[in-house]
Amino acid sequence: MADLFEEKAKDWDVNEMVLNLSNAIGNAILKNVNLEDNMHVMDFGAGTGLITGHVLPKVKSILAVDISQSMLDQLLAKSDYEGKVKALCQDITRQPLDEKFDVIVSAMAMHHVEDTDNLFASLAAHLKPGGKLALADLDSEDGTFHPADIEGVFHHGFDREHLKGLLEKHGFKNIHFETAHTVDKEGKDYPIFLLTAEKAE
Ligand SMILES: C[S@@+](CC[C@H](N)C(=O)[O-])C[C@H]1O[C@@H](n2cnc3c(N)ncnc32)[C@H](O)[C@@H]1O
Repeated sequence: MADLFEEKAKDWDVNEMVLNLSNAIGNAILKNVNLEDNMHVMDFGAGTGLITGHVLPKVKSILAVDISQSMLDQLLAKSDYEGKVKALCQDITRQPLDEKFDVIVSAMAMHHVEDTDNLFASLAAHLKPGGKLALADLDSEDGTFHPADIEGVFHHGFDREHLKGLLEKHGFKNIHFETAHTVDKEGKDYPIFLLTAEKAE
């Protein structure tokens, strides 16, 4: 599989828009999810580990999952993550893991996954009963957030009501949305939601 983030990985962590966005999403996750020091967390589409870094001080361990080895190599170079973070380059929506997690977090990865229904089925299957999901992505937009010819972008944001229906279908409850951040790109506003939900017991 082609690594679509090979070039971007090099300067991902010095991109001001990315840093502002991940700070806002990280803070929204900490505000909305009760994280505890015995918890095992998955960061789905972890990239270079910006969200992992926000969550890490609060929990026991994190598995950073991504399909871009270049992004994960940047994460693995962060020596302060050593011991508590493992990285896995695997598409868990096609090749599931045996492990289950207390919490799954994810930032700006969902629009890169074509089949959202299957993604939610997969995330539900990787959560313990009562486990929490905290996932951030773009609200529906007109397709101008990414360049028109970009590869690997399957959704121009998401409709919150549609996502709520899909989450309910996969056994999630206590579904809550809030606007975590608004990206200002070339004078245009792109709201970013954080959704939180709980897998039924
Ligand atoms: C926009 S980046 C966000 C990275 C990171 N979450 C952040 O906020 O900085 C999207 C990431 O999702 C990853 N991704 C795309 N499809 C994926 C899949 N099926 N499974 C895991 N990761 C995926 C990409 O490789 C990329 O690292």
